[in-house]
Amino acid sequence: MGAFLAEFISASPEATIRAGEELAELLHPGSVVALRGGLGVGKTYLTKGIARGLGINEEITSPTYTIISEYQGKLPLYHIDVYRLGGDDDFSALGGDDFLYGSGVSVIEWSELLPRSLPKDAITIEITLLEGDRRLIRVTGLPGEDFHP
Ligand SMILES: Nc1ncnc2c1ncn2[C@@H]1O[C@H](COP(=O)(O)OP(=O)(O)O)[C@@H](O)[C@H]1O
Ligand SMILES: [Mg+2]
Repeated sequence: MGAFLAEFISASPEATIRAGEELAELLHPGSVVALRGGLGVGKTYLTKGIARGLGINEEITSPTYTIISEYQGKLPLYHIDVYRLGGDDDFSALGGDDFLYGSGVSVIEWSELLPRSLPKDAITIEITLLEGDRRLIRVTGLPGEDFHP
């Protein structure tokens, strides 16, 4: 177990979905994927790929208003968007920690708003806008070296 770093450029929404799909193969019960990056960088698209990789056929929509959406695939997927929350205290009050320490995979959009709630072994993915449709995707905290999207 090391804090392996992968960095790559996605040139299209489809490429971001495919990266999520491959990332899903490294996830297991209790995995937490902490997504960082502003509005429209592709956090929800990456989550669509993770869902596909987990064998979920349902359409993934942004949980901005529901905060947490749950899907059932090979593993349960908890798709969490904390944009509208005030931070860690709000998240705890909602029972959010139970998801992070549960038996599914948690994917959190705007995870930078939850500095105290994230487990130490969370996989962090920071997405940065480049010109055009390109996105820089930086993954840290991977549990191995076998992620080559
Ligand atoms: N390389 C790319 N990866 C992901 N999304 C992209 C890319 N290029 C353009 N887009 C567009 O950016 C938007 C990303 O939306 P979304 O995933 O909902 O962002 P976020 O959840 O970060 O706010 C979509 O409209 C998508 O078509
Ligand atoms: Mg989103």
